[in-house]
Amino acid sequence: MGPGDGAAKSAGADQQQRAPELAPIAALRRDFIWGVSTSSFQIEGATREDGRGPSVWDTYCQTGQVANHDTGDVACEHYHRYREDIALMQRLGVQAYRFSVAWPRVLPQGRGTPNERGLAFYDRLIDAILAAGIEPWLCLYHWDMPQALDDLGGWTTRDCVRWFADYAALVADRYGDRVKRFATFNEPSIFTLFGHGFGTRDTSDKLHRIIHHVNLSHGAAVDAVRARVPGSSIGAIHNVQSCEPSTPADAPAADRCDIYWNRAYPDPQCLGSYPTLLQAAIEPHMQPGDLARIHRPIDWFGLNHYSPTFVKADASARLGFGFGDQPPNIAKTPIGWPIMPDAFRDILLTVAKHYELPVYVLENGLGGHDKPDVTGAVIDNERIAYLRAYIAAMNDAVSAGADIRGYFVWSLLDNFEWDSGYGVRFGLTYIDYPTQRRTPKASFHWYRDLIKAARGQPEP
Ligand code: FCB
Repeated sequence: MGPGDGAAKSAGADQQQRAPELAPIAALRRDFIWGVSTSSFQIEGATREDGRGPSVWDTYCQTGQVANHDTGDVACEHYHRYREDIALMQRLGVQAYRFSVAWPRVLPQGRGTPNERGLAFYDRLIDAILAAGIEPWLCLYHWDMPQALDDLGGWTTRDCVRWFADYAALVADRYGDRVKRFATFNEPSIFTLFGHGFGTRDTSDKLHRIIHHVNLSHGAAVDAVRARVPGSSIGAIHNVQSCEPSTPADAPAADRCDIYWNRAYPDPQCLGSYPTLLQAAIEPHMQPGDLARIHRPIDWFGLNHYSPTFVKADASARLGFGFGDQPPNIAKTPIGWPIMPDAFRDILLTVAKHYELPVYVLENGLGGHDKPDVTGAVIDNERIAYLRAYIAAMNDAVSAGADIRGYFVWSLLDNFEWDSGYGVRFGLTYIDYPTQRRTPKASFHWYRDLIKAARGQPEP
């Protein structure tokens, strides 16, 4: 038991919490899945071990542009401590764990000869997840493209479709006997917009080529997995957040942002067409039959949601929009993200209706600057309040008719938060990076109690 365990551990606290937590989940299905999510680059570390090749994020970290010059070299040492982390999940009582495979760990050059030692790591990981009674949800791509492929053009070249399909086939062949839940991409709009959409420098229109090639890669991977894994359940994971104009005059800019942020991927993948605004820009990259290649049958919609985005018109920006001011006096997380659970409810209803697929919330959580108190406990009451409000909003969406089947907190552990490095913490578990000691935060205990109550509750 870690020092944080004292925080919410007293029997009294347990009793007080359990009963009231049932109200915000009363409408959820009996077989609702509670889980946690992570991603390879953010937790694994061991970037140069056992034959792993470099990824674009290793390269980017070397440029020193990440806060505090942080890198993913060590991260949470999950590569070596995965058993400890799975034991944490068992304590939480989650039914499912979403993780990603690092493409350059299993294919150091991105294609060609697989790396047996890298493949064997995920064998061990998956076996341990299953032995813990937890269902593995495997995401193929959470942003760590092999550097060798980026050097060949990465997502800008149509060759990436074949590379990604071959990688998907390798993963499906190797793990498909044990893994049935597969996601193709995590948040394609975020890695493409932040890589090539915002800013002013991209004069070669990489963005629209990339959008189309990633969509084609999704379709090819769905086919590759489906053909190899009997009983597979496949989806993609999208970040959907409402785009709100900062002032009434910014409404057209907010609409444009909505198309690029929220619809450029799910629309062709789930509906078979690009939003009208994008069609002319995609057209030069389109070949006959492409929309059918992208629009492959999938089983669910993976939704990541944190907060709405406030947008302003910006004539100097590549796409004519940028981040605008947030309204004054709104509640915000410690890292300044608006707390608006009603917007989450609305997004869930919109997504469920528009795409007519069962929805799994595969990321939601609060980023902060958590610190242990003098006793060593990490009392993250703000995170508990956020999760409670967002789960209640999800319950409201279900009551209003949305087909939502699962909820995964981002994240099991504090981890490498991209450009913010290790300074921003999203975990239910605190990581003391110098010692790698794991301390469950108060929110860990709260989530454990919620899951326990939810799984024990009678049929509605
Ligand atoms: C999402 C990413 C995830 C994490 C959270 C906070 O956009 O998918 O890796 O960084 O944000």
